[in-house]
Amino acid sequence: MNLPPFKLERYFAKHEFNTEYLLCSSDCEAMSIADLLAMEEGAAEKFQNVWLGYTESQGSPTLRHEICNLYETIQPEDILVHTGAEEAIFLFMHTILEEHEHVIVHTPSYQALSEVAKSIGCSISPWRAREENGWALDLDELRGLLHTNTTAVIINTPHNPTGYLMSRTDYEAVHQFVEENELILFSDEVYRESENDPATRLPAACDLGDYAISLGVTSKTYGLAGLRIGWIATKNKKVYDSMAALKDYTTICNSAPSEFLAEVAMRNRRILVARNLDIIRTNLNILDEFFSRHADLFSWIRPHAGSMAFPRYLAGDVESFCDKVAREAGVLLLPGSVYDDPDNHFRLGFGRKNLPQAINRLDGYLCK
Ligand SMILES: Cc1ncc(COP(=O)(O)O)c(C=O)c1O
Repeated sequence: MNLPPFKLERYFAKHEFNTEYLLCSSDCEAMSIADLLAMEEGAAEKFQNVWLGYTESQGSPTLRHEICNLYETIQPEDILVHTGAEEAIFLFMHTILEEHEHVIVHTPSYQALSEVAKSIGCSISPWRAREENGWALDLDELRGLLHTNTTAVIINTPHNPTGYLMSRTDYEAVHQFVEENELILFSDEVYRESENDPATRLPAACDLGDYAISLGVTSKTYGLAGLRIGWIATKNKKVYDSMAALKDYTTICNSAPSEFLAEVAMRNRRILVARNLDIIRTNLNILDEFFSRHADLFSWIRPHAGSMAFPRYLAGDVESFCDKVAREAGVLLLPGSVYDDPDNHFRLGFGRKNLPQAINRLDGYLCK
Protein backbone atom coordinates (compact mmCIF):
# COMPACT_ATOMS: atom_id res chain seq x y z
CA MET A 1 0.00 0.00 0.00
CA ASN A 2 1.45 3.32 -1.06
CA LEU A 3 -0.85 6.20 -0.20
CA PRO A 4 0.15 9.77 -1.11
CA PRO A 5 -0.75 12.66 1.25
CA PHE A 6 -4.48 13.45 1.34
CA LYS A 7 -4.29 16.91 -0.26
CA LEU A 8 -7.57 18.23 1.14
CA GLU A 9 -6.75 17.10 4.69
CA ARG A 10 -3.26 18.65 4.51
CA TYR A 11 -4.73 21.94 3.24
CA PHE A 12 -7.22 22.03 6.11
CA ALA A 13 -4.53 21.04 8.62
CA LYS A 14 -2.56 24.11 7.55
CA HIS A 15 -5.41 26.64 7.53
CA GLU A 16 -8.55 25.39 9.34
CA PHE A 17 -7.70 26.50 12.85
CA ASN A 18 -5.98 29.79 12.02
CA THR A 19 -8.22 31.36 9.38
CA GLU A 20 -11.10 33.41 10.77
CA TYR A 21 -13.82 32.32 8.32
CA LEU A 22 -14.11 28.85 6.80
CA LEU A 23 -15.97 29.33 3.54
CA CYS A 24 -15.17 25.91 2.12
CA SER A 25 -16.38 23.39 4.73
CA SER A 26 -18.20 20.38 3.37
CA ASP A 27 -20.32 19.75 6.46
CA CYS A 28 -23.32 21.59 7.85
CA GLU A 29 -23.40 23.56 11.09
CA ALA A 30 -22.49 21.41 14.11
CA MET A 31 -23.91 21.60 17.64
CA SER A 32 -22.80 20.88 21.19
CA ILE A 33 -23.41 17.60 23.03
CA ALA A 34 -25.68 19.54 25.41
CA ASP A 35 -27.83 20.83 22.51
CA LEU A 36 -28.08 17.40 20.95
CA LEU A 37 -29.07 15.75 24.25
CA ALA A 38 -31.67 18.46 24.84
CA MET A 39 -33.56 17.18 21.80
CA GLU A 40 -34.83 14.20 23.81
CA GLU A 41 -36.22 14.04 27.30
CA GLY A 42 -34.05 11.96 29.61
CA ALA A 43 -31.20 11.67 27.08
CA ALA A 44 -28.74 13.74 29.16
CA GLU A 45 -29.17 11.44 32.14
CA LYS A 46 -28.90 8.30 30.03
CA PHE A 47 -25.72 9.66 28.45
CA GLN A 48 -24.11 9.90 31.91
CA ASN A 49 -24.71 6.19 32.32
CA VAL A 50 -23.32 5.01 28.97
CA TRP A 51 -21.08 2.03 29.71
CA LEU A 52 -17.52 2.56 28.52
CA GLY A 53 -16.72 -1.01 27.61
CA TYR A 54 -16.22 -2.42 24.11
CA THR A 55 -19.33 -2.25 21.96
CA GLU A 56 -20.73 -4.63 19.34
CA SER A 57 -18.47 -4.66 16.27
CA GLN A 58 -21.30 -4.15 13.76
CA GLY A 59 -22.57 -1.13 15.73
CA SER A 60 -25.09 -1.08 18.55
CA PRO A 61 -28.37 -2.79 17.56
CA THR A 62 -30.41 0.26 18.58
CA LEU A 63 -28.27 2.61 16.48
CA ARG A 64 -28.50 0.27 13.48
CA HIS A 65 -32.25 0.15 13.98
CA GLU A 66 -32.41 3.97 13.77
CA ILE A 67 -30.13 4.08 10.70
CA CYS A 68 -32.50 1.65 8.93
CA ASN A 69 -35.13 4.41 8.86
CA LEU A 70 -33.12 6.02 6.06
CA TYR A 71 -33.81 3.05 3.82
CA GLU A 72 -36.79 1.12 2.45
CA THR A 73 -35.68 -2.50 2.56
CA ILE A 74 -32.64 -2.52 4.82
CA GLN A 75 -32.60 -4.40 8.14
CA PRO A 76 -30.28 -3.76 11.12
CA GLU A 77 -28.13 -6.75 10.07
CA ASP A 78 -27.46 -5.00 6.73
CA ILE A 79 -25.84 -2.01 8.47
CA LEU A 80 -22.16 -2.00 9.45
CA VAL A 81 -21.20 1.02 11.54
CA HIS A 82 -17.72 2.52 11.11
CA THR A 83 -15.54 5.29 12.46
CA GLY A 84 -16.68 7.91 9.96
CA ALA A 85 -17.38 7.31 6.29
CA GLU A 86 -13.64 7.36 5.75
CA GLU A 87 -13.06 4.02 7.49
CA ALA A 88 -15.85 2.44 5.45
CA ILE A 89 -14.28 3.60 2.16
CA PHE A 90 -10.94 2.18 3.23
CA LEU A 91 -12.37 -1.17 4.30
CA PHE A 92 -14.60 -1.49 1.24
CA MET A 93 -11.70 -1.00 -1.14
CA HIS A 94 -9.35 -3.26 0.78
CA THR A 95 -11.82 -6.13 0.88
CA ILE A 96 -13.37 -5.95 -2.59
CA LEU A 97 -10.61 -4.73 -4.88
CA GLU A 98 -7.49 -6.55 -5.99
CA GLU A 99 -4.34 -5.53 -7.81
CA HIS A 100 -4.78 -5.18 -11.61
CA GLU A 101 -8.53 -4.69 -11.37
CA HIS A 102 -10.17 -1.64 -12.89
CA VAL A 103 -12.48 0.84 -11.19
CA ILE A 104 -14.59 3.66 -12.64
CA VAL A 105 -14.74 6.72 -10.38
CA HIS A 106 -17.05 9.75 -10.55
CA THR A 107 -14.54 12.63 -10.92
CA PRO A 108 -13.60 15.10 -9.45
CA SER A 109 -13.78 13.02 -6.31
CA TYR A 110 -13.18 13.09 -2.62
CA GLN A 111 -9.61 11.83 -2.77
CA ALA A 112 -10.12 8.59 -0.80
CA LEU A 113 -12.67 7.38 -3.37
CA SER A 114 -9.97 6.97 -6.00
CA GLU A 115 -6.69 6.97 -4.09
CA VAL A 116 -7.28 3.90 -1.92
CA ALA A 117 -8.13 1.84 -5.01
CA LYS A 118 -4.97 3.12 -6.74
CA SER A 119 -2.83 2.23 -3.74
CA ILE A 120 -4.08 -1.35 -3.98
CA GLY A 121 -2.79 -1.46 -7.57
CA CYS A 122 -6.09 -0.95 -9.40
CA SER A 123 -6.27 1.17 -12.51
CA ILE A 124 -8.79 4.02 -12.36
CA SER A 125 -10.88 5.54 -15.11
CA PRO A 126 -12.27 8.91 -14.15
CA TRP A 127 -15.94 9.35 -15.12
CA ARG A 128 -15.86 13.13 -15.50
CA ALA A 129 -18.44 15.61 -14.35
CA ARG A 130 -18.20 18.61 -16.69
CA GLU A 131 -19.02 22.20 -15.86
CA GLU A 132 -20.42 22.85 -19.33
CA ASN A 133 -23.07 20.16 -18.60
CA GLY A 134 -23.96 21.66 -15.21
CA TRP A 135 -21.66 18.99 -13.65
CA ALA A 136 -23.79 16.16 -15.03
CA LEU A 137 -22.20 12.85 -16.02
CA ASP A 138 -22.49 11.39 -19.50
CA LEU A 139 -23.84 7.83 -19.61
CA ASP A 140 -22.32 7.07 -23.02
CA GLU A 141 -18.98 7.97 -21.51
CA LEU A 142 -19.61 5.47 -18.70
CA ARG A 143 -20.35 2.69 -21.20
CA GLY A 144 -17.09 3.51 -23.00
CA LEU A 145 -15.08 3.18 -19.79
CA LEU A 146 -15.95 -0.48 -19.21
CA HIS A 147 -12.96 -2.85 -19.41
CA THR A 148 -12.89 -6.64 -19.15
CA ASN A 149 -11.32 -6.30 -15.68
CA THR A 150 -13.71 -3.63 -14.33
CA THR A 151 -14.88 -4.54 -10.82
CA ALA A 152 -16.63 -1.51 -9.43
CA VAL A 153 -18.24 1.83 -10.20
CA ILE A 154 -17.96 4.55 -7.56
CA ILE A 155 -20.46 7.39 -7.56
CA ASN A 156 -21.09 10.27 -5.19
CA THR A 157 -24.44 12.02 -5.37
CA PRO A 158 -25.15 14.63 -4.03
CA HIS A 159 -21.60 15.34 -5.12
CA ASN A 160 -18.54 16.69 -3.36
CA PRO A 161 -17.36 19.24 -4.58
CA THR A 162 -19.93 20.37 -7.20
CA GLY A 163 -23.24 19.91 -5.33
CA TYR A 164 -24.55 18.01 -8.35
CA LEU A 165 -27.57 15.78 -7.80
CA MET A 166 -27.93 13.05 -10.41
CA SER A 167 -31.26 12.83 -12.23
CA ARG A 168 -33.49 9.86 -11.46
CA THR A 169 -33.21 8.64 -15.07
CA ASP A 170 -29.41 8.73 -15.07
CA TYR A 171 -29.28 7.09 -11.64
CA GLU A 172 -31.45 4.23 -12.82
CA ALA A 173 -29.31 3.86 -15.93
CA VAL A 174 -26.16 3.61 -13.78
CA HIS A 175 -27.82 0.86 -11.74
CA GLN A 176 -28.82 -1.00 -14.86
CA PHE A 177 -25.28 -0.72 -16.25
CA VAL A 178 -23.75 -2.06 -13.01
CA GLU A 179 -26.23 -4.92 -12.72
CA GLU A 180 -25.97 -5.98 -16.37
CA ASN A 181 -22.18 -6.04 -16.20
CA GLU A 182 -22.11 -7.81 -12.82
CA LEU A 183 -20.15 -5.02 -11.15
CA ILE A 184 -20.32 -3.59 -7.65
CA LEU A 185 -21.77 -0.10 -7.14
CA PHE A 186 -20.26 1.86 -4.27
CA SER A 187 -22.61 4.78 -3.78
CA ASP A 188 -21.29 7.56 -1.57
CA GLU A 189 -24.50 9.09 -0.23
CA VAL A 190 -23.04 11.08 2.64
CA TYR A 191 -24.90 14.24 1.48
CA ARG A 192 -28.24 12.46 1.02
CA GLU A 193 -31.24 14.25 2.63
CA SER A 194 -29.71 17.67 1.85
CA GLU A 195 -31.61 18.08 -1.45
CA ASN A 196 -33.04 21.61 -1.79
CA ASP A 197 -36.25 20.00 -2.99
CA PRO A 198 -36.86 16.74 -1.06
CA ALA A 199 -38.92 15.47 -4.04
CA THR A 200 -35.67 15.13 -6.00
CA ARG A 201 -34.11 12.74 -3.45
CA LEU A 202 -32.83 9.57 -5.08
CA PRO A 203 -33.55 6.15 -3.66
CA ALA A 204 -30.63 4.78 -1.66
CA ALA A 205 -28.55 2.47 -3.86
CA CYS A 206 -28.70 -0.37 -1.31
CA ASP A 207 -32.49 -0.51 -1.73
CA LEU A 208 -32.21 -1.20 -5.45
CA GLY A 209 -30.18 -4.42 -5.46
CA ASP A 210 -27.55 -6.48 -3.69
CA TYR A 211 -24.85 -5.30 -6.11
CA ALA A 212 -24.94 -1.90 -4.34
CA ILE A 213 -23.41 -0.50 -1.18
CA SER A 214 -24.68 2.79 0.25
CA LEU A 215 -22.33 4.92 2.32
CA GLY A 216 -23.75 7.19 5.04
CA VAL A 217 -22.40 9.32 7.87
CA THR A 218 -23.59 11.71 10.60
CA SER A 219 -21.01 14.34 9.56
CA LYS A 220 -22.52 16.15 6.61
CA THR A 221 -26.28 16.70 6.29
CA TYR A 222 -26.75 16.21 10.04
CA GLY A 223 -23.74 18.38 10.96
CA LEU A 224 -22.20 15.99 13.50
CA ALA A 225 -18.72 15.27 12.17
CA GLY A 226 -17.22 15.06 15.65
CA LEU A 227 -19.16 11.87 16.37
CA ARG A 228 -17.10 10.02 13.74
CA ILE A 229 -20.00 7.68 13.05
CA GLY A 230 -20.44 6.40 9.50
CA TRP A 231 -21.91 3.22 8.05
CA ILE A 232 -22.49 1.08 5.03
CA ALA A 233 -25.88 -0.38 4.17
CA THR A 234 -25.98 -3.36 1.83
CA LYS A 235 -27.79 -6.61 1.20
CA ASN A 236 -24.58 -8.04 -0.23
CA LYS A 237 -23.54 -10.57 2.43
CA LYS A 238 -20.12 -11.16 0.91
CA VAL A 239 -19.19 -7.48 0.96
CA TYR A 240 -20.67 -7.04 4.45
CA ASP A 241 -18.86 -10.03 5.95
CA SER A 242 -15.49 -9.18 4.42
CA MET A 243 -15.68 -5.58 5.62
CA ALA A 244 -16.72 -6.73 9.11
CA ALA A 245 -13.77 -9.14 9.19
CA LEU A 246 -11.29 -6.41 8.23
CA LYS A 247 -12.77 -3.99 10.76
CA ASP A 248 -11.42 -6.31 13.47
CA TYR A 249 -7.98 -5.09 12.35
CA THR A 250 -8.77 -1.37 12.26
CA THR A 251 -11.12 -0.09 14.97
CA ILE A 252 -12.81 -3.34 16.21
CA CYS A 253 -15.85 -1.44 17.40
CA ASN A 254 -17.11 2.12 17.64
CA SER A 255 -16.95 4.66 20.44
CA ALA A 256 -19.79 3.94 22.91
CA PRO A 257 -20.55 7.63 23.70
CA SER A 258 -20.59 8.44 19.98
CA GLU A 259 -22.94 5.57 19.23
CA PHE A 260 -25.35 6.79 21.91
CA LEU A 261 -25.25 10.37 20.59
CA ALA A 262 -25.59 9.20 16.98
CA GLU A 263 -28.68 7.24 17.95
CA VAL A 264 -30.27 10.37 19.45
CA ALA A 265 -29.28 12.30 16.30
CA MET A 266 -30.73 9.74 13.90
CA ARG A 267 -33.97 9.55 15.88
CA ASN A 268 -34.26 13.33 15.56
CA ARG A 269 -32.73 13.64 12.13
CA ARG A 270 -35.71 15.41 10.58
CA ILE A 271 -35.19 18.32 12.98
CA LEU A 272 -31.46 18.40 12.15
CA VAL A 273 -32.18 18.28 8.42
CA ALA A 274 -34.76 21.07 8.64
CA ARG A 275 -32.35 23.25 10.63
CA ASN A 276 -29.50 22.70 8.17
CA LEU A 277 -31.64 23.08 5.05
CA ASP A 278 -32.82 26.37 6.42
CA ILE A 279 -29.21 27.54 6.72
CA ILE A 280 -28.42 26.22 3.21
CA ARG A 281 -31.39 27.97 1.56
CA THR A 282 -30.64 31.30 3.24
CA ASN A 283 -26.98 31.02 2.25
CA LEU A 284 -27.74 30.08 -1.35
CA ASN A 285 -29.76 33.26 -1.78
CA ILE A 286 -26.84 35.29 -0.47
CA LEU A 287 -24.50 33.46 -2.86
CA ASP A 288 -26.78 34.05 -5.87
CA GLU A 289 -26.63 37.74 -5.14
CA PHE A 290 -22.86 37.72 -4.52
CA PHE A 291 -22.08 35.84 -7.73
CA SER A 292 -24.37 37.96 -9.86
CA ARG A 293 -22.51 41.07 -8.62
CA HIS A 294 -19.14 39.42 -9.36
CA ALA A 295 -19.97 37.72 -12.65
CA ASP A 296 -16.74 39.13 -14.11
CA LEU A 297 -14.72 37.23 -11.50
CA PHE A 298 -16.52 33.91 -11.08
CA SER A 299 -18.66 31.33 -12.86
CA TRP A 300 -21.53 30.06 -10.68
CA ILE A 301 -23.66 26.94 -11.01
CA ARG A 302 -26.25 26.87 -8.23
CA PRO A 303 -26.22 23.40 -6.62
CA HIS A 304 -29.46 21.45 -6.13
CA ALA A 305 -28.22 19.51 -3.11
CA GLY A 306 -25.47 19.33 -0.53
CA SER A 307 -23.60 22.16 1.14
CA MET A 308 -20.91 22.86 -1.46
CA ALA A 309 -20.37 24.40 -4.87
CA PHE A 310 -17.42 24.49 -7.26
CA PRO A 311 -17.27 27.94 -8.88
CA ARG A 312 -14.50 28.93 -11.28
CA TYR A 313 -12.20 31.89 -10.74
CA LEU A 314 -11.95 33.83 -14.01
CA ALA A 315 -9.38 36.48 -13.19
CA GLY A 316 -6.09 34.65 -12.63
CA ASP A 317 -4.59 31.62 -10.93
CA VAL A 318 -6.99 30.12 -8.37
CA GLU A 319 -4.29 28.85 -6.01
CA SER A 320 -2.74 32.27 -5.51
CA PHE A 321 -6.23 33.79 -5.27
CA CYS A 322 -7.20 31.37 -2.44
CA ASP A 323 -3.87 31.96 -0.74
CA LYS A 324 -4.26 35.75 -0.83
CA VAL A 325 -7.89 35.61 0.33
CA ALA A 326 -6.87 33.45 3.31
CA ARG A 327 -3.93 35.66 4.28
CA GLU A 328 -5.37 39.10 3.54
CA ALA A 329 -9.10 38.66 4.19
CA GLY A 330 -9.08 35.76 6.68
CA VAL A 331 -11.47 33.72 4.52
CA LEU A 332 -10.65 30.14 3.62
CA LEU A 333 -11.55 28.83 0.15
CA LEU A 334 -10.32 25.47 -1.16
CA PRO A 335 -8.46 25.52 -4.49
CA GLY A 336 -9.56 22.85 -6.97
CA SER A 337 -5.96 21.64 -7.19
CA VAL A 338 -6.63 19.48 -4.11
CA TYR A 339 -9.00 17.57 -6.44
CA ASP A 340 -6.44 17.66 -9.28
CA ASP A 341 -8.84 20.00 -11.06
CA PRO A 342 -6.97 21.80 -13.87
CA ASP A 343 -9.66 24.42 -14.59
CA ASN A 344 -9.33 27.05 -11.88
CA HIS A 345 -12.29 25.98 -9.73
CA PHE A 346 -12.47 26.34 -5.99
CA ARG A 347 -14.73 24.74 -3.40
CA LEU A 348 -17.14 26.93 -1.53
CA GLY A 349 -19.10 25.59 1.47
CA PHE A 350 -22.47 27.04 2.49
CA GLY A 351 -23.70 24.85 5.33
CA ARG A 352 -22.47 27.12 8.10
CA LYS A 353 -24.39 29.85 9.93
CA ASN A 354 -21.62 32.45 9.63
CA LEU A 355 -21.64 32.46 5.81
CA PRO A 356 -23.18 35.98 5.66
CA GLN A 357 -20.24 37.39 7.66
CA ALA A 358 -17.69 35.40 5.61
CA ILE A 359 -19.20 36.62 2.32
CA ASN A 360 -19.30 40.13 3.65
CA ARG A 361 -15.59 39.95 4.44
CA LEU A 362 -14.81 38.47 1.00
CA ASP A 363 -16.95 41.05 -0.72
CA GLY A 364 -15.17 43.89 1.08
CA TYR A 365 -11.81 42.43 0.09
CA LEU A 366 -12.81 42.08 -3.59
CA CYS A 367 -14.18 45.59 -3.74
CA LYS A 368 -11.01 47.12 -2.27
C1 LIG B 1 -17.93 12.49 -0.49
C2 LIG B 1 -17.35 12.19 0.85
N1 LIG B 1 -17.27 10.92 1.27
C3 LIG B 1 -16.76 10.60 2.46
C4 LIG B 1 -16.29 11.57 3.32
C5 LIG B 1 -15.71 11.19 4.65
O1 LIG B 1 -16.58 11.56 5.69
P1 LIG B 1 -16.07 11.57 7.19
O2 LIG B 1 -14.98 12.61 7.26
O3 LIG B 1 -17.21 11.98 8.01
O4 LIG B 1 -15.55 10.23 7.51
C6 LIG B 1 -16.35 12.92 2.93
C7 LIG B 1 -15.82 13.98 3.80
O5 LIG B 1 -15.60 15.10 3.40
C8 LIG B 1 -16.91 13.24 1.68
O6 LIG B 1 -17.03 14.50 1.26
